[in-house]
Amino acid sequence: MGKKISEHVTWVGKVDWELKSFHGNELSTKRGSSYNSYLIRDKKTALIDTVWQPYDAEFVARLSEEINLHDIDYIVMNHNEIDHSGALPELMREIPDTPIYCTKKGEAIIRGHYHKDWNFVNVKTGDTLSLGDTSLTFVEAPMLHWPDTMFTYMSGDNILFSNDGFGQHFATESLYNDAVNQDELYYEAEKYYANILNLYSSFATKKINEILAMNLPLDMIAPSHGVIWKNNPAQIVKKYLAWADAYQENRITIVYDTMWNSTRTMAESIGAGIEKADSDVKVKLMNAAKDDKNDILTEIFRSKAVLVGSPTINYGFSYAIGGLLEMIKGLKFKGKKAAAFGSYGWSGDAPKQISDKLAEAGFEIVAEPYKALWVPDEKAIEACRAYGESFVKALDNDAEEGKDAMVSAGGGKYVCPVCGYVYDPAEHDGVAFEDLPDDWKCPICKVSKSKFEKQ
Ligand code: FEO
Repeated sequence: MGKKISEHVTWVGKVDWELKSFHGNELSTKRGSSYNSYLIRDKKTALIDTVWQPYDAEFVARLSEEINLHDIDYIVMNHNEIDHSGALPELMREIPDTPIYCTKKGEAIIRGHYHKDWNFVNVKTGDTLSLGDTSLTFVEAPMLHWPDTMFTYMSGDNILFSNDGFGQHFATESLYNDAVNQDELYYEAEKYYANILNLYSSFATKKINEILAMNLPLDMIAPSHGVIWKNNPAQIVKKYLAWADAYQENRITIVYDTMWNSTRTMAESIGAGIEKADSDVKVKLMNAAKDDKNDILTEIFRSKAVLVGSPTINYGFSYAIGGLLEMIKGLKFKGKKAAAFGSYGWSGDAPKQISDKLAEAGFEIVAEPYKALWVPDEKAIEACRAYGESFVKALDNDAEEGKDAMVSAGGGKYVCPVCGYVYDPAEHDGVAFEDLPDDWKCPICKVSKSKFEKQ
């Protein structure tokens, strides 16, 4: 059954209470999710997005209870990852000639996924589609979080259909933001941002400011996952602006793995040292092999600093720490400080290797890697506490020096407007972006140097 959300709009999506992982196993979704689809009935009728493929037949069957499918004049696809476009083939079997409004990149993605020659209408920012008393305005939002993404604003009912933006993997029958547990809702919204959107924060800031500058009346933000922001929709916009701006709280997260509890003992002792030095800072310890990786990344996103520890195994670090470091690198957290530690028996390579990986991921390393031989005794435990205390002091001491170093590192960072890759001179032996050859290209998507924007 559809649920009416405004004069002209009915929610016709699917709540997926069972979903426990997303993007394969890359993202945990412990509170389920939903695939929100919206049916707009004015003089003309438009469907905004569909649902994930496993629910395609159910979606089309329920939609046909809501409306004669042949009465749908337009399909609008804001983003074409399979969780939103997956039911298109089933739907298009019924109404194969219905025009699909999407960005040019959206068309390429749909064609790449489903290999069908449907009736595509490419739209770009500012294009409008009149439905009668209401109309749709399209706003391209590339890299939030795919190249094809766009938002659709509906005048009249004043709804922004934002697809993944402002979404949460959060199953609820209640639909609206004020009808659910606020702690759970905001945790899922933040986890979503930290794990999916953080990499594209510069795009988020720019797009939100662009939309705010349009001064559009806004009664609801209707994303494609989770609740609809109906009660004070500006609250999630403000959160996004904060999250996109190198977000951090007065928190330090200690992430570790351990084989025989020596590195765990180090982590706990370092944590005690941090607490002794600064009782205001919230310290959290998480075991990379036992705790949920996406919860760990969310804690790192919130933190001003992290310590990452692993025993040395096979002259390197553990599997769990390795996977986490790769995810940390990909998400490109900004403005965070770090150090590494771990126990060892002979070579003791892991802390230095972790420290290098954190530096490569953009963390400012404020303390030398720290290691302890075999099982820490009382003296080693005390030394770990002292390391924790000195880490807290290094966070403050190095702040200005760190900034100076960034400024002097060759004219600052530049960001690729297409894929979000950030050129940081500090990661390229201090070579300024301006000094790169003119034919230099983005190493990820091959966009030319001239298209890069100063960060
Ligand atoms: Fe919810 Fe990017 O798909």
